[in-house]
Amino acid sequence: MRSLLFVPADSERKLSKALSAGADALILDLEDSVAAEHRPRARALAAEFITGARQANDRPLLYVRVNPLDSADVEADIAGVIPAGPDGIVQPKPNSGQDVHRLSIALGHAEERAGRRDFPARILAIVTETPASVLQLSTYIGSSSRMIGMSWGAEDLSAVVGSLSSRRGRGLSSPYRLVRDLCLLTAAAADVEPIDTVFVDFRDEAGLRRECEEAAQDGFTGKMAIHPDQVAVINEMFTPSDIEIQHANTIVRAFAENPGAGVASLNGKMLDQPHLKLAQKVLARALASGALPATPPPPTQG
Ligand code: COA
Ligand code: MG
Repeated sequence: MRSLLFVPADSERKLSKALSAGADALILDLEDSVAAEHRPRARALAAEFITGARQANDRPLLYVRVNPLDSADVEADIAGVIPAGPDGIVQPKPNSGQDVHRLSIALGHAEERAGRRDFPARILAIVTETPASVLQLSTYIGSSSRMIGMSWGAEDLSAVVGSLSSRRGRGLSSPYRLVRDLCLLTAAAADVEPIDTVFVDFRDEAGLRRECEEAAQDGFTGKMAIHPDQVAVINEMFTPSDIEIQHANTIVRAFAENPGAGVASLNGKMLDQPHLKLAQKVLARALASGALPATPPPPTQG
């Protein structure tokens, strides 16, 4: 998933624009962008939207952000949307991996009741929204086989910590840089997708581009969006470039041509197993984003 577009689920207008935004995934929001009194309607709209959107052939993945596990809303959120068959659930404000495990069990019960056991919803956990969670990030590793990704957020954490801003100049201030980086490392340790957080200044395309470039270089595989205009930039910046793909292909070929060799050389530089692993990762991402044909072309003769 390169781009994940948040859509407030109580807004019929925004829901009607969501499918054509070009996002790899939509996150229908029942949490912070929806006022409490509108949640019952938002649940019904989200379920109706998922039921309709699932029919389309070429559709984005459909995720729902439910309310936190310790809220009064989460049970109704899960019961309201699981029968429609979302691809996944975005979990806000977990305090540890134990909360991901608890959500997973609740989803299993709801799927059982809805006769949807064959379609287990995935979990994308936002792991830096409470200080307790940040201090226990390693507990997320192996917390649930449903968990496919991790993301981070600055707004909720800064409200708890009392930070007046999570940004300094063009970049992040140091506590928020720390949690971003820890999210990336924890996702890598858990072997799930690291997804970068939202860029809220949605008219600043150059700023978004800069932030995407940095995130993609560091290893994030995608970024959450809040506005349809952000989707194309995110998709572009998280798709490996032709040059990156070519370079990765060259590395994979160098090892394929020397089976059994642990080390190879390319243009006077040493290549060993980490280079091969990284090249394979780049090619897998290129394939997932449609930048590569499913079967590589045969090697040229001569
Ligand atoms: N999903 C789908 N459509 C959206 C959208 C979104 N996230 N954000 C905006 N649009 C639509 C608008 O409805 C508008 O269409 P319209 O002219 O037919 O009404 C069009 O895109 C252009 O929107 P624009 O006028 O530029 O922005 P806005 O002022 O209407 O909305 C926000 C700005 C920030 C309120 C809106 O983008 C939004 O709600 N984003 C998601 C917020 C969210 O989910 N936050 C929680 C996660 S942090
Ligand atoms: Mg929030």
